[in-house]
Amino acid sequence: MSLLSARAIESGYGDMQVLHGIDLDVEAGEIVTIIGPNGAGKSTLMKTIFGLLKPTKGRIEFEGNEITGLSADRIVRLGLAYVPQVENVFPSLTVRENLEMGAFIGARVPRERLNRIYELFPPLMTRQRMRVGRMSGGERQMVAMGRALMLDPRLLMLDEPSAALAPNLTATIFERILAINETGTAILIVEQNAKESLRLSHRGCVFAAGVKCFEDSGPAILANENIGRLYLGGE
Ligand SMILES: Nc1ncnc2c1ncn2[C@@H]1O[C@H](COP(=O)(O)OP(=O)(O)OP(=O)(O)O)[C@@H](O)[C@H]1O
Ligand SMILES: [Mg+2]
Repeated sequence: MSLLSARAIESGYGDMQVLHGIDLDVEAGEIVTIIGPNGAGKSTLMKTIFGLLKPTKGRIEFEGNEITGLSADRIVRLGLAYVPQVENVFPSLTVRENLEMGAFIGARVPRERLNRIYELFPPLMTRQRMRVGRMSGGERQMVAMGRALMLDPRLLMLDEPSAALAPNLTATIFERILAINETGTAILIVEQNAKESLRLSHRGCVFAAGVKCFEDSGPAILANENIGRLYLGGE
């Protein structure tokens, strides 16, 4: 049984169908990267899995239980967390308040969790009381990821975690992603920095025009000349 299993997913916005029958699995403890051109439907799949869009067809299971059509707040309680591509922090709240929002379903904020997040992202500890709206892109991404980790999810979905970050910060974020995975959390990533992301992934999928057109191990995709030429900016 896969941790996450999506079968024959069709989804979109109003009359516009974006996903045309997507199958996707994530196994426990795995890192899986989805790559593909702008508009391919990568974010739409994440929103559909997380209950923000209702699929018109298909079935989604998490740990063997059907979650198709459940609301996001039900899904997050089941252990599936999601960091959206945009607007993923509360800019007018402090770092600490943003993290506490991540545990909003618990009566009390678990102190050990907060400490664990500060361990993962030390810059957040020293800036606990800073308003997130005043922080850099990299720090905001740490806050967004920290917030998603407050409930210790079994699967973390990250939509373009390194978007618009300087190369050194991108490296830091990928390092942190590995550290999160080492504690057993499976991770599903959508990334424009496809090579860096595939390098640390067990598996990769290529999306184009709402269809998953290719899937293989991370290293195999990196070594695939056709994929490299088409999607990785390779020679
Ligand atoms: N809120 C929305 N309302 C209507 N159409 C949308 C909405 N969000 C995305 N779309 C459309 O759905 C299609 C797929 O978008 P999606 O955001 O899933 O692509 P993506 O693969 O994540 O692209 P990118 O790499 O640019 O983030 C695009 O044609 C886009 O214009
Ligand atoms: Mg997107």
